[in-house]
Order: sequence, then C-alpha cells, then structure tokens
Amino acid sequence: MNTQYTTKPTPPTIRLADYTAPPYRVISADLSFNLDPERTMVRATLEVARATETESSATLELNGESLDLISIALNGRKLSVSEYILTGNILKILSPPKSFTLDTEVAIAPEGNEALEGLFRSNNVYCTQCEPEGFRRISFFPDRPDVMTTYRTTIIAPKDGYPVLLSNGNLVDSGEMEGGRHFATWYDPFPKPSYLFALVAGDLAYIEDNFRTVSGRVIQLRIYIEHGKESRSRYAMESLKRAMRWDEQAYSREYDLDVFNIVAVSDFNMGAMENKGLNIFNDRFILADPETATDIDYYLIESIIAHEYFHNWSGNRVTCRDWFQLCLKEGLTVFRDQEFTAEMRNSANKRIDDVSVLRVSQFREDAGPLAHPIRPDNYIEINNFYTSTVYQKGAEVIRMMQTILGKEKFRKGMDLYFSRYDGQAVTCDDFVATMEETSGTDLKQFKLWYSQAGTPHVEIDEFFDPQSGIYKLTLHQNCKPTPGQPIKEPFHIPLAIGLIDELGTEIPLQTEGDDQAHSTGTVILELKEPTGVFIFENVNSSNPRLSINRSFSAPITMARKQTSSDQAFMVARDSDPFNRWAVGQEYSTSVILDILDHLVKGHTPSLDPAFLDAMGKVAVDTSLDDAFRASLLELPTEDYISTCMAVEDPINLHKARKVARRQIAAHHRKIFDELYNGLRTDIPYAPDAAGMGRRMLKRVNLGYIAALESPETAGYVKDLFDNADNMTERMDTLDILNATDTPQRSQALQDLYDRFENDHLVVNKWFALHASSPLPGTLSVVKKLLGHPAFDLKNPNKIRALVGTFTNLNSVNFHAIDGSGYKFLADRILEIDKFNPLMAARLVLPLGRWKRFAPTRQLQIKTQLERIITAQTPSRDVYEMVGKSLGR
Ligand code: ARG
Ligand code: ZN
Repeated sequence: MNTQYTTKPTPPTIRLADYTAPPYRVISADLSFNLDPERTMVRATLEVARATETESSATLELNGESLDLISIALNGRKLSVSEYILTGNILKILSPPKSFTLDTEVAIAPEGNEALEGLFRSNNVYCTQCEPEGFRRISFFPDRPDVMTTYRTTIIAPKDGYPVLLSNGNLVDSGEMEGGRHFATWYDPFPKPSYLFALVAGDLAYIEDNFRTVSGRVIQLRIYIEHGKESRSRYAMESLKRAMRWDEQAYSREYDLDVFNIVAVSDFNMGAMENKGLNIFNDRFILADPETATDIDYYLIESIIAHEYFHNWSGNRVTCRDWFQLCLKEGLTVFRDQEFTAEMRNSANKRIDDVSVLRVSQFREDAGPLAHPIRPDNYIEINNFYTSTVYQKGAEVIRMMQTILGKEKFRKGMDLYFSRYDGQAVTCDDFVATMEETSGTDLKQFKLWYSQAGTPHVEIDEFFDPQSGIYKLTLHQNCKPTPGQPIKEPFHIPLAIGLIDELGTEIPLQTEGDDQAHSTGTVILELKEPTGVFIFENVNSSNPRLSINRSFSAPITMARKQTSSDQAFMVARDSDPFNRWAVGQEYSTSVILDILDHLVKGHTPSLDPAFLDAMGKVAVDTSLDDAFRASLLELPTEDYISTCMAVEDPINLHKARKVARRQIAAHHRKIFDELYNGLRTDIPYAPDAAGMGRRMLKRVNLGYIAALESPETAGYVKDLFDNADNMTERMDTLDILNATDTPQRSQALQDLYDRFENDHLVVNKWFALHASSPLPGTLSVVKKLLGHPAFDLKNPNKIRALVGTFTNLNSVNFHAIDGSGYKFLADRILEIDKFNPLMAARLVLPLGRWKRFAPTRQLQIKTQLERIITAQTPSRDVYEMVGKSLGR
C-alpha cells in the first residue's frame, strides 16, 4: 500500500440526502466581458433576494474557481476584506440584507484553460462550457441549477479578430468602441440556471435560415462555422428545422426566443450543449458532406441537433433542481430524440441501434463497480455521471412509463409537466407525480427504477396444454447486488408479449377473466412480484411460441429454454421486428459461443446446418427492408457476445466470430456475390434512410465476401475504395482492408490521408482506423501516432479517435495478454489528467470491467488502476472513477 494514497485528503462526497434549498435567489445578472486571452475581465452585477422561508442571518455562498477577485461591492459600497470570506472555492457574504445588488469584478485566463470548462479558446474562438459546474470558472455565482436568473450579457472584443459576439437570448444592443473594439449586448428574458449560460466570440462564418412557428412567429436560425465550411452545415440546418417542427407536432412545444444560434467548435469535451438560444456543438456533429461524412455522421448530426433543440423545453424551460436529477432532463430528452429519429428514419432499426448501445454500454456499467441508479444519490464529481445509465437507461425508464400508461395518457402527463413546471427547477419525483396524476396510475413501485441500480434478470417458464388451450407463463425476476445495494426490491417491469402459432400468425390473447381477446396480439404484462404467473385461455394452436419483451419494452436480461429451431422460426415469423432481430442475435450468440468452446478445447468447430440455412433465408428475403435485412444478417458484436460470457475471453472470441463469418460466407458464397452485385446500382449518394439502408446491406454483404480471405479480396476491395464517391463507402471498404495485412491496406490509408490531410474530421477518422485495426503491432503504431504532427492530446476528438478507439473498439489488441494495452491506457490517463480531468476520467471506464476477466488480466488491470490512484495528484474526477473501479 502506497502511503501517499492513504495520507492524501479524500475529496468529499456530495449527497442527495443533504440537499437544502438555496437561501438566496439571483433575480437578474448583468455581466460584462472584456475579452483578452490572458486576462479577461468579467464584471457581474447580481440582483439578489432572500428566499422567503430563509432566516435573516443566512450566509450567501457563491462558487468561484480559478478566479482572480479584483473587487466586490454590496449595494454600491466596496466591501473590505473583513466583510466577506473567500476560502478555497467559496465566497461567503455574511448576513447580507434582504435584497441587494452585488458587484464583483474578476480576471480569468481563457488561453490557458485546457480543461475546456468555463471560458476557453478553440482555434481563436472564445467559447464556453458551463454544464454542470463551469460557470464558477467565469464569475462568482451560486452555481447550482435551482438558482434561476435572467441574464444580460455584454461582450467587448477587438473587432477584427472577433467580429462575431454571441450570448444567450436576443441581441439588444451593439456598437463600435475606441481602439478598434466593439461590443454586443444580449438579453435572455427566460430565467435559467447558470449552467445554461454561453458566450462565443470569434471570426466565424454563418449560414442562415428561418422557421415559422405554429403560432406564426418567424425565428431567425443561424449556424456559425469556420469560414469555408458553409456548405457543410446545410444538413445540420435542415435537421434543426425538422426537429423544431417535430416538437410542435409531437409535444406542442414551440420555440420561444426570436433567434436560435448554433456554433460549431473543434475543441469540445462532449458532443454538444443546449445553452439557451445558443447551442454549442462539437463540429463533428455539425459538418457533413458526402465526400467527408459517413451515413453514421449524418445520423448523429440529425439526432444530436434534435437532442439539444428538444432540451429547450426538457431541460431549459423546465430544469433540474440539483445534479442528482440529471436524468430528469437527459433521460427524457434522449427518449424524445429517439422518438424523433424513429419517425425520420427506419423505426425498427432505430430501436435495434439504441438497444444495441444500451446492452453493451449500460448493461456493462450496471454489472460492474461503477453501477449507479439513473438518479444517483451520491457523487464526488458530477461530471462522472454523464453516463450511459443516466442517459440511455434514463430514456428507457421514460419509455416504460409511456408503455404502462399508454401513449395518450403519457402525452397528457407531458403537457401537464411542461405547463406546471415551466420556469422551475424540479425533481424526478415531480415528473413521476405528474404522470401519476394525469393517468391515475400508481407508480410507487415503478419508481424503484430511479433508486435501484442493476439490470433485472427475468427467467421464463412456459406451460401449454393443447387440450384445454391454456397457456401459462411464469416469470421470475431478480437483480444482482450493486455497490451499496446488496438487496433489491422487485421492479415493476412492463413486458410486451405475443404468441405466434405454427403458421406464424399472431394468436389473439385472452387473459383469465377477460371476456374478449386482444385483436392485435401484443399485450403488456406488468411483472411486479418476484414471481408472476400469467394465464391465457383459448389459445388455439398446437405449438404457440412466445415473443417476449417486444420492442425491448423493459431494459432487462432474460433466460429461457428455447430450441434453436424455435429461434430460427421466430427469426422468420415474429411480427415484432425488434424481436426478430433479438432472437436472431441470441441464436448467433449461442452458435459463436459453441465455436469458441470448440476452439478452446482444440476441436474443429463446424456450424449447425440449420443456422446456415436460417442465414441464407434472410439473405435472399427481398421482402425485408434493406437496413433491417442488414441487421438480421450481421452477427452480434464481440462486445455484445462478451456480455453473455461468464468470463470474457476477447482473443478467442474474436477468433470464434471470424470462424463463424467465414463459414457462413463459404456456405452462401453464391448468394452473397449475387446480392452484392444486385446492389451495385448507380443511385447518387443521399444521406436518407433508403440510401443508408442500401449501403448498410452492401457493407454487411461485402464483409461476408471478404471473410473468405481469398487472395484476390484485398485487390477487389481496394478497387471499390478507389471508385467510391462518398465517405461511407470509403470507410466501409477501408474497414475491411484494415483487418488485412496487405499493401492495399497501407495504400488506402495513405490515399485517405493525402486526399484529406487538411480536413481535421477526416484525419480523425484516419487516426481511428489505425487504432481499430485488429492486426498485431497496432499498439506500437498507435504510440507512434501520438507523435504525429496532426495529433494533439489537448484536443478531445483526437484523444477519442486514437486512444478511445484503441481501448473501446479494439479488444484483441487492448486486451493483449502481456497487459501492454492496459499500461498504455493508464499512461494516457495520467498524462491527460494533468490538464483535462473530465476527459481523463472518461477513459477509465474500460479498466473498470476488470472483474469480468480471468485472473491474469484482472491482476494486470488492477495494477494499472493502483498506479493511477497513487499518482501524485489525481483529479477528483479520476480519483472517483478509479477508486470506485477498485471497489473502494
Ligand atoms: N447537456 C449536454 C447534452 O446532452 C451534455 C453536457 C455534458 N457536459 C459535461 N461537461 N459533462 O446534451
Ligand atoms: Zn442532453
């Protein structure tokens, strides 16, 4: 045990149970920024009032971090050093009057700000990131979301370097000043928490459009980008207008300010930020054209634009009381953006994509030392809780409420939620209470989803008596312990189910006591007890087959006895598209695990002919939509399969999945060749659902053709790469070459670089390709690339492209048995933690899964975790992630 670790002060834990309402409100804030890279002066005039219930002696506490306090005055009178206390990051004003104005002036240094929180510079553009606690790096303020304030912001800067000056709200004044400077004043009439404050200043181009709202107001829309990138922002603009229309139609939510501005910057810790009227985006989620962006990029742009826009109501107009309630806005907004995308694109595939992400990232989080409920009850650093659990599982919890209540009552609940809490900072309890009130449904037990971590597991027992037509379904639920929660109460789990007869037709379902059967087939069962028994009568079939958890109605895992022939039947016949895919994944997973077993034992594996037959049938089924057919043909990812293993074995799993692919390809060679040739039409590239589906199917197909590893493959695929007229097909072909140790691979990588070396977004793809190659020696290539002139550790997108890709998408190399991958990651975490703790902490995640591996790897990973936590000064962020990963 390292003594350094034991003697270092432990960062404090913040607890939900300790919440107290703020003693003072800040009614308005008048801010002025005199911008300078090294010394920006920020003046704030706050109009402060004591909250009615607060006793007279209450102290006003303001947060402030890395601020140089120049002056402070109360009601216009300068305070002497004895009239306030500034300790650490808290400024205390003792016994202030009932209402007063507080003037402060501070100096900050945007230029040296490499944490990218607060005010920083990205390519000579000043910008801000205040969520969750960045505003305290800008000015002294009660930096907590339950203090809602109207902001007036004046920005002063040299005119030539910074012609564009933006903040929240509407522009109310602007003009020239002496010395080549100019100013702009923005006023945001909507009270908001400080985390939604934003400021941008720089020399930016913009594209403009407008949107007529349902009530006839015309909103000016602008997207600000680097000069020369105008045409690449069009898709983002179109996406924005679609999102605005959708929120009016789906939720009656109209936009409220006169302008809506988006700014794209290239240094950004996250994807994007919903600041009121001034969204700031990581530029990879704005810029796109067919030459440089893939289908997935377009898809992400549309959904993230929508996500941030939807926050205007779910997050900004109605916000969170405290950061424990983060899923109140994030889970809800993810749910809303998922519904939007499902309507814009292929809804079955959207559900498949979302569930795939959930099962790999969130289920793994729930199963490990970092498990937490969607509403955590304690944290050391809130930045560590922008997790898959809060976002993705948070969205599933909202979806379950919609399933239990039905769409109509859910929508009524949403309407009431928005109107009742408009302009307020509220809690998850408030949300659920609103849903209970409008629907008359008791959601008390359901609320355990907010407080209990872990993925419930449901065991399924079926009994059918063909004589009486009685079908009995017994469901047992349990949930494994998670840190701090050894015993779980049973969850309230909505399960959409259906029964399919031997002809593949949906059987109308009639529950005991029902006098009528449900004509649609699908019914929602509500499992509330540890064991639930559900009986259906008059089931007219000799062999009814169960389709359960349709559309993934609940975020659970399941165990059931199902033969592979039943699985094959359901892949072909289930009327629920999601479950056709899900059962196919189960089938493939068991096939691959069987191969793995053979490989480990030194036996020669061979695929079940029934499985090959099922795959062949899907491949030739032209009645299926392209994207859906592609999803059915694609084998489950290594990440997913590994979650189904007792002990993860990344290297053998990689081999086993390859064997399966090769055998499928060999068996159906003719089918894949024909299918691929049939798809080679000359339809011009369009980033729409149809085109994307076609390219998906092409990619999966080509993947099988290449899986044969015949000598001519690399040449053939390289030709396709050379002739591709869009980035999607370039990347799809390069991905295949990337797994081959061939001259074609190196040539294609070089071609890509030469052609796009001036485009940082494509260069990031190029870094990611190197980092994801399964070829041996990849780690040393990655290490070398850290020194590449285009690489920059200070840029989060580059960290994600090179380091993140290697550790998250390259399991064979990251989990190399000598432990080199783990050491590499720990080195980067220590390095990055010195300037960007938020990014460093995010990189810890893959190390947190150490318990899932055999002892050798466990020990290697733990050694690295220990090394990080005993380092000189780990940040609060990294300290929490590593400490919790180690189970402390
Ligand atoms: N609210 C932003 C988004 O969803 C995420 C901001 C996260 N920022 C952070 N520093 N953790 O949509
Ligand atoms: Zn969000």
